[in-house]
Amino acid sequence: MELTPSPSAHRALIRTLPLMRCPTCTGGLVESETALECRECSRGYPFRHGIPQLAIHGSAETWSAAEGAGNPEDEALPGSSEEYQREYEELKEARHYNEAYQKKRTKRWSTAREYRLLERLLDSQPRSEILLDLPSGGGRLSRQLAEHTELLVEADIGLGQLLYGRESHTGEDERIWMTASAFHIPFQDESVDGVVCCRLCHHLPTSEERERLLAELLRVSRRYVVMTFFDYHSVKNYLRRIRRPFDGQPPKMTMTVDRVAELAERHGARLVAQPPLSRLFSGHRYGLMVKG
Ligand SMILES: C[S@@+](CC[C@H](N)C(=O)[O-])C[C@H]1O[C@@H](n2cnc3c(N)ncnc32)[C@H](O)[C@@H]1O
Ligand SMILES: [Zn+2]
Repeated sequence: MELTPSPSAHRALIRTLPLMRCPTCTGGLVESETALECRECSRGYPFRHGIPQLAIHGSAETWSAAEGAGNPEDEALPGSSEEYQREYEELKEARHYNEAYQKKRTKRWSTAREYRLLERLLDSQPRSEILLDLPSGGGRLSRQLAEHTELLVEADIGLGQLLYGRESHTGEDERIWMTASAFHIPFQDESVDGVVCCRLCHHLPTSEERERLLAELLRVSRRYVVMTFFDYHSVKNYLRRIRRPFDGQPPKMTMTVDRVAELAERHGARLVAQPPLSRLFSGHRYGLMVKG
């Protein structure tokens, strides 16, 4: 069964097209009956269930000349996040994941705390015309984000997540859904006011992927980026590291606050706040990077 979008989501997408770009060659996009098409390379990005399929799957080989280039720091974590990119293609998997998440008491607690952190960080910024939530997952944070913008763009590499998010959206606010990879965001430079990227960075096993993510988020944002990362110096990671010789658990995919600050600066922004989700029970930090 083909699920269709609301006419208002489609109208908002067409209005937003001039801000978008081909994720493969960066050319402009136009609409045809069944797809968005690139004016330069003629690639078509078809609609599935009314959602444009703009995601490019893959990792470093899709953006760097050195195939599968690694970084010596990542020795303990070979591979890439490519397998993870395929996890939520189907609505069934996405529904299962989102419903299980909502039921778990600890997850409900952390979500409530995340709402408060996001509220604080977004309140410190001017209201947006257009805000990109990437990856949006099944829209866990979208209601909170929608309050800070005229138009919310929900993007994720997993079509199932977007279908779940779209069917759960009951509000009147305007939204667009699209598949996209955070490594190849189909928006032009500084085309959206802000970008929120929660709980993706700590799924990326190589520093090359984490750094590409941050560079892409800061490229498309005009004013600010909120990105969560797992802090190398958190209590949670410290305990994980000392237990490792005994329990054999793989290391967490972390970044340091200093590294995030350094990368932000390299891409024209400042890391102005990085509150932890919990000092003792979580390693996640919410980094707010502001441009200009
Ligand atoms: C843990 S969920 C977080 C979703 C949402 N931000 C939240 O906090 O609830 C991570 C999401 O990242 C998506 N994902 C994985 N790799 C991606 C990539 N390269 N680009 C965009 N999304 C990706 C997955 O499909 C999944 O929905
Ligand atoms: Zn193109």
